[in-house]
Amino acid sequence: MKVLHISAECFPIAKVGGLADVVGALPKYQNNLKTTSSVVMPFYNNRFTKQHTFTEVYKNTIALGHQYFQFNILKLVDSSLGFELYCVDIKELLFTENVYTNDDTDRFLAFQIATLDWILSGHEYPDILHLHDYHTGLIPFMVSRCYKYKPLSNIPTVLTIHNAQYQGWFSHDKVNLLPPFNFEDVGLLDWDNTVNPLAAAIKCAWRVTTVSPSYMIELKQNANGLENLLLHESAKCVGILNGIDTAVWDPETDKRLLKNYSSTTVISGKKEHKKWLCNKFNLDVKKPLYTFIGRLVGEKGADLFAEIFKEALSHKDISILLLGSGNPDTEKEITSIKDPNFNTYIGYNEDLAHKIYAGSDFLLMPSRVEPCGLNQMYALRYGTVPIVNAIGGLKDTIIDIDNNGFGLLHDGVTTANVNAAIRRASEFYSETKKFRSNLKTIMAIDNSWNNSAKTYVNLYKSLKK
Ligand code: GLC
Repeated sequence: MKVLHISAECFPIAKVGGLADVVGALPKYQNNLKTTSSVVMPFYNNRFTKQHTFTEVYKNTIALGHQYFQFNILKLVDSSLGFELYCVDIKELLFTENVYTNDDTDRFLAFQIATLDWILSGHEYPDILHLHDYHTGLIPFMVSRCYKYKPLSNIPTVLTIHNAQYQGWFSHDKVNLLPPFNFEDVGLLDWDNTVNPLAAAIKCAWRVTTVSPSYMIELKQNANGLENLLLHESAKCVGILNGIDTAVWDPETDKRLLKNYSSTTVISGKKEHKKWLCNKFNLDVKKPLYTFIGRLVGEKGADLFAEIFKEALSHKDISILLLGSGNPDTEKEITSIKDPNFNTYIGYNEDLAHKIYAGSDFLLMPSRVEPCGLNQMYALRYGTVPIVNAIGGLKDTIIDIDNNGFGLLHDGVTTANVNAAIRRASEFYSETKKFRSNLKTIMAIDNSWNNSAKTYVNLYKSLKK
């Protein structure tokens, strides 16, 4: 079975968030299950594309309304990703330094059209088109409704929603940029009087998945306006928990660490990283180290961080280190905290993130919305105890220590709730024997893609007659 994943992000080529990690790992795990999964994404002007060799496999011109753009399909020569990688190169639109810009409508529309034109030109079509998030959300509509793609209309489409907050809205003035279709079908593109690519994908895809069972349930109450649509389409919707790439995220082999460690050497391995972090960030190595890694946006609870941290630091018995960037006001609020037990790294730094997972005692994830969340699973694998809000994928992957589990949950994101969890965590930390034995337990939890990759393959099979 040939599966083509279509996505704006894929690790290690271009990453903004967890979407990249999923698209960089799931195809590899599927290829162990006798499917042939590959990925197509835009060709960005970034470090990865500069440092790797690509060959041209197809070349043509697309029409975007009355404008024409030349495009190339480039294939990565290096085969070490574990899947074949194709990139759509449209110099005027996609060759940007960042994945996202202020105006992405034309960019992602062109990406989708070029991808379909390329597929249409091939001798052997994929058996499944697996689409990720709104950037690829017009594909189910286009293959089923645009005249030129009629030959592709029997290929099952699967949409995975990684985050329903972003839907790719654009004005009806731009529908003429799509290849011609019967105008009676225009309602399929619409939600609330605008073109909504995510809504169009939910209506037109053969199956809709999201990245955890709990998030699928929550979406029906909170999906940034799409609740009723998801309720209506619930028969074709399913939540499948993400996994992690345990080849990339393995403290025994991770080249980004100062020293590798296993569950038998976890105490000394973590100690060395904690020492390094505390030294670099001027923190007291004797105190339990609480960290946050991620985007500083409301979904992650970041607007409350300054208040939460100040309250937690007022007890003077913990250290907090934050790595991330996002909302400029939030960044300002957080960096203005002057406390000897607090420090930040504002920015994105994959290398430092690995070292933080290795050197922390606790990872904070007070997300208000968390479709799956991968960081809690990375933390577990590196022997760091997650403290999470009981929502979405966090709820599906963490069991509380007071419930015979291994992490800490709080119900709702308030300064009081998060601080109550931090107090409980510090008590747990002081019970050294119990705390240390829990490190071994969490490192052994299997959150790899093995199970979920199979679930996806079974879903594809159910769509092929
Ligand atoms: C998005 C979600 C996150 C999820 C990731 C991968 O970034 O916010 O919860 O883990 O996608 O599916």
